[in-house]
Amino acid sequence: MRVAVLASGRGSNFQSIIDASKENKLPNCKLELLIVNKKEAYAVERAKKHNIAYKIIESKNKKREDFDHEMLEVLAKNKIEIVVLAGFMRILSKPFITKYKNRIINIHPSLLPLHPGAHAHRDVIKSGAKESGCTVHFVDEGVDTGPIIMQETVVVDKNDNEETLAAKILPLEHQIFPKALHLLTSKKLEIKEGKVTIRSD
Ligand code: GRF
Repeated sequence: MRVAVLASGRGSNFQSIIDASKENKLPNCKLELLIVNKKEAYAVERAKKHNIAYKIIESKNKKREDFDHEMLEVLAKNKIEIVVLAGFMRILSKPFITKYKNRIINIHPSLLPLHPGAHAHRDVIKSGAKESGCTVHFVDEGVDTGPIIMQETVVVDKNDNEETLAAKILPLEHQIFPKALHLLTSKKLEIKEGKVTIRSD
């Protein structure tokens, strides 16, 4: 399946997908395109290094619908079937979600439905939770609310701060994100009543 990754910054999760692809762990995934919404996003360097086509579509000062429409055009032009949000710090509009219904996945650094939003690690520390982790989920119209595909957990130590917690969780993100993408591109995921099941055949 033809896949595009959307990112806003560092792109380490994008890198985990590139690596999995190179290691033949994503046999049904054709990593066709990276779209970034900030020209300084380091993810672009990763695309260049690995000869992956990329497009910079600045989101600054644009209406959400206009920006999303621009992205949809690029995705259509590239015949993209699956959209992967890898540290993409924008909320997608309804037309975008509708167009790619059940074909958009996101990685979030907490155990959803706990601690959604842009400051997950800070919120976890503040809450006193003893465990956190990461979640790959389908994207629906809410913020980090879509059906959950896969999760990993870590223990939150009393000395943890935002940075140490993030550093603990990131390697797990890099493990589950390509795995979930593999299941999706292999058509092994089913959503029923908001819950994901993984077909074993
Ligand atoms: C990750 O922690 C991801 O879970 C969150 O934003 C961060 C992006 O990191 N959505 P990177 O750009 O993939 O390195």
